[in-house]
Amino acid sequence: MVKLLTSVFCALLGCGGAAAIDLNGLRSIGPVASFVKADSSVTLSCADGSQVRITVLAPDLIRVRAAFLGKLPDRDHSWAIEKSSWDVPHWDLAEDSGALRISTAELEVVVHRSPLQIEFRDVKTDQTINADQSPMRFDPQSGVVAAAKKLGFDEHFYGLGEKATRLDKRRGEFTMWNSDTFGYQEGTDPVYQSIPFYIGWQHGAAYGVFFDNSYRTHFDFGASSQEYAAFSAEGGEMNYYLFQGPSIKKILARYADLTGHMPMPPMWALGNQQSRYSYYPDSLAEEVVRKYRADDLPLDVLHLDIHFMNAFRPFTWDPQRFPDPKAFTDRLRAQGVKVVTIVDPGIKLQPPAEGARDAASHPELAPQDQSYYVYNQGKAQDFFLKRKDGGTYIARVWPGESVFVDFTLDRAASWWGDLHRAYTDNGVAGIWNDMNEPSDFNDQTGKSQMDVVTYDGGTYSAYAGNRNVFALNEARATYQGLQRLLPNQRPYVITRAAYAGIQRYATMWAGDNRSTWDALALSLPMFMTLGLSGEPFVGSDVGGFVGRADAELLVRWYQVGFLTPFCRNHAAMDSPDHEPWRYGKYYEDIIRKYLKLRYRLLPFLYTVLEESHRTGVPMFRPLLLNYQEDENTLGIDDEFMIGDDLLVAPILKPNLTARLVYLPPGVWFDYWTGARHEGSRMVHVEAPLETVPLFVRGGSILPLGPEQNYVGEKPADPLQFEIYPDARGEASTLLYEDDGLTEAYRHGSFRQTSVSYRHTPAGDRIDLRVPAGEFHPAPRDLLLTVRPATTVRQVLIDGKSQGRAATVRIKDDGQSHRIELR
Ligand code: NOJ
Repeated sequence: MVKLLTSVFCALLGCGGAAAIDLNGLRSIGPVASFVKADSSVTLSCADGSQVRITVLAPDLIRVRAAFLGKLPDRDHSWAIEKSSWDVPHWDLAEDSGALRISTAELEVVVHRSPLQIEFRDVKTDQTINADQSPMRFDPQSGVVAAAKKLGFDEHFYGLGEKATRLDKRRGEFTMWNSDTFGYQEGTDPVYQSIPFYIGWQHGAAYGVFFDNSYRTHFDFGASSQEYAAFSAEGGEMNYYLFQGPSIKKILARYADLTGHMPMPPMWALGNQQSRYSYYPDSLAEEVVRKYRADDLPLDVLHLDIHFMNAFRPFTWDPQRFPDPKAFTDRLRAQGVKVVTIVDPGIKLQPPAEGARDAASHPELAPQDQSYYVYNQGKAQDFFLKRKDGGTYIARVWPGESVFVDFTLDRAASWWGDLHRAYTDNGVAGIWNDMNEPSDFNDQTGKSQMDVVTYDGGTYSAYAGNRNVFALNEARATYQGLQRLLPNQRPYVITRAAYAGIQRYATMWAGDNRSTWDALALSLPMFMTLGLSGEPFVGSDVGGFVGRADAELLVRWYQVGFLTPFCRNHAAMDSPDHEPWRYGKYYEDIIRKYLKLRYRLLPFLYTVLEESHRTGVPMFRPLLLNYQEDENTLGIDDEFMIGDDLLVAPILKPNLTARLVYLPPGVWFDYWTGARHEGSRMVHVEAPLETVPLFVRGGSILPLGPEQNYVGEKPADPLQFEIYPDARGEASTLLYEDDGLTEAYRHGSFRQTSVSYRHTPAGDRIDLRVPAGEFHPAPRDLLLTVRPATTVRQVLIDGKSQGRAATVRIKDDGQSHRIELR
């Protein structure tokens, strides 16, 4: 009910959205009066007393930081930044009367002196890639800062993290202010997360801008004027990073260097997950797992939503509903199912009854009515957020009046992390951070919270600059807590709200979506956009959270969800059940087929996941990311790719049994029929409810494991490689494997298996190379098949005849082998 009221409230008030800043009312920074060159930077002093520092971090990464009417402050801190110290690359400075020119191997930064305008040029093509349309602007009264860039006639915009809108953001206008937007739809803005990072594309070449400002920020990609694209903030610093591409993948890699790489999640995070608001008591939760197993449906994770807690008090268990949580999680684990519990930031404000004491051991299992140990400990150590007048900031969330922890205080953050003992001691494997915008039913706009102060390195800074990083800091505390509590295991944290850098600590899901076809369609550009903003591990509630999904919608949703990194069916308290079996066998059989295929594809998915970890390039991709020079892909957001090799064109409307699919340049194979298609065109594809149009890129080799009902149920034996040759008759892959669970992969314990294929007039040749890395899987066989034809051929391994076969079977003995098919 409260939820419903909040949503109505949100819908009426727009949950913190605000009109963009009018640039015309702002003052321009003065011209350059003098400058000082240092090791990696040039600091400009302006005629009006303002200061601007341009720092060379890498040949393709420049930072611009400005202080208006004064000097740059000594404190230079951002929660988003992981790498602040860079090896200074070679760079030069030249000057003439009109401009300073800073040049690296890739970029020339032209600083026009009067008016002060900055222009970034690609030294290889001699083209301007991004240039100020006017000097940086500010308002000394309100603290507003802004930058306006020339808008290219053919410029397109991507990114900005979680945005409920289409892929290409040209002519759009967006705000960043973490907001609880129950039942959001296309156009709702802002939503839960703030990732002020975007990518501009022009004639095949891309650049990136990260406006690292955690205040309420605005982005205007030509919505108010066809002359400029602007970014502005309602406070804080003008502080942005310019990334030179021209490849989007290169920009994402640099962004990951700057704000952090996603660590490898446990492999079971790629498993199927089931949730509902809420499964309780324990027997009902077990019934769900029993049903999964009885129906031969894969399941790796069960989520416990808020009713598992003792009256919604974080870090407790309800003694009636879950009287023995350890035994409960053990029973599930024995069936291959891990438990993830929700943790909300709102701690129930509950001073202890007189004389009441907390249990010394396992307080999470004790009745909390007289005394709630978490509140008591936090209060005693003064860890809760306060208002300027010293009073505690009291919010209203699920437990009623609640308080929030100041996660910027190191001691508070580590206390918070340690509190997760209440769950890890009881066998919980991962944590789900919800409501962390933070949601406050008293005021979702944040307006009445503006006097809340945050420790923030002793600066006691304002809420206006801290709300957007609240969830990031909560996730950091959670992740680090799990690292301590479950040593050498990869923490698994899921978050709803975020700021840039979140990928270091948490994966995400897209909050309270609706059970509608529109919401399903919207989820595609949302995932692509998140991926283009440095968040590689994404997903949303399969079947939709709010409302009623029908069978057709649920099946089509799984035909997207079976390839999203995070695949979890979830539903709101008052939504009808929509687990895979709820609509009958016909539909369940189709859903099972897709879940089984997901598990078959795990070797492939895990390889792509590792690529995301290492390179910052997401798993779930718009076609544009793989084919950025193909203008036809600029606006495609009803098809997606997983890694480089799989293309999915789901059905996103009811009653459709066919669709047009755009295939990018190259050769493509229909996964189901093996039909070969030439790319750079649209093809018409049949898609009855059983079938999602799925294509494999010619040139790829798809690694497949066995069907399983949970990760690790069976060894990957035999490990299969399906070979799909490109137009030249070639294909290759580099399969990644490790133990899937521990941190050993960081120290060389992984295995990379290289397989390559070449068709020659004399026959086909497959080369297996000695794998790299120190991880050794159990003995197993490899199966190799050339698709689509499965004709019987003469097989020679290392020159020795092995008889005739359609599929080659070979022991995976860690040696290199030459396989010939004649
Ligand atoms: C809001 C979350 O977005 C939703 O997934 C969850 O079920 C409810 N809070 C209740 O915890």
